[in-house]
Amino acid sequence: AHDSKANVVWNRTSVTQAMREKLNGHAGKCVWFTGYSGSGKSTLANALEVKLNRLGYHTMLLDGDNVRHGLCKDLGMGEADRAENIRRIGEVARIFAEAGVIVITAFISPFRKDRDAARALFDEDRFIEVHVDTPLDICEQRDPKGLYQKAREGKIKDFTGIDSPYEVPKRAEMTCSTADLEQGGIINNLLKII
Ligand code: PPS
Repeated sequence: AHDSKANVVWNRTSVTQAMREKLNGHAGKCVWFTGYSGSGKSTLANALEVKLNRLGYHTMLLDGDNVRHGLCKDLGMGEADRAENIRRIGEVARIFAEAGVIVITAFISPFRKDRDAARALFDEDRFIEVHVDTPLDICEQRDPKGLYQKAREGKIKDFTGIDSPYEVPKRAEMTCSTADLEQGGIINNLLKII
């Protein structure tokens, strides 16, 4: 079969990641939030970015709904499309990390193999997986977009936690829940491990 990658070589850049990081004054990393819809991923990711920005870090926030309007607007919510969604986010996150940026991602990312594939793109200390482990019944009570109700009524299929699985992380660097700990406490705990 024709291999479209056979003639593509990996170009080394003259400016290295280390040089970019030196200029920025800090390492490039990825803080990967995962959890149910309505668990508080986006809120925490946003609060973390505000805090890091105030502290003078170079950051970028990639968020589920926004990315799905652009980079991943061709993808749905089936397992294969979610895998491709997470694959693209992982690759983009890596590019940002190579630019010396702290990239924060907030996607449900329900499948362990997809999260692990993203993790594999980074050096060990540069990928921080944060499981936002807010119980499903609380996420459903919040239902900020009315999506759980639609899923219960059968109007949305493949909804995470209802008729599509969420595989709990086994190796998260941090686990938190917005049900029992307020945001400030979670962000302070996170700052200690980034
Ligand atoms: S994934 O699984 O990581 O690819 O999903 P993600 O890109 O984070 O997109 C999740 C947001 O899409 C909305 N939405 C759904 N979520 C779960 N299941 C189904 N079927 C679904 N359909 C639409 C929902 O608003 C999610 O947003 P968040 O911010 O997580 O609440």
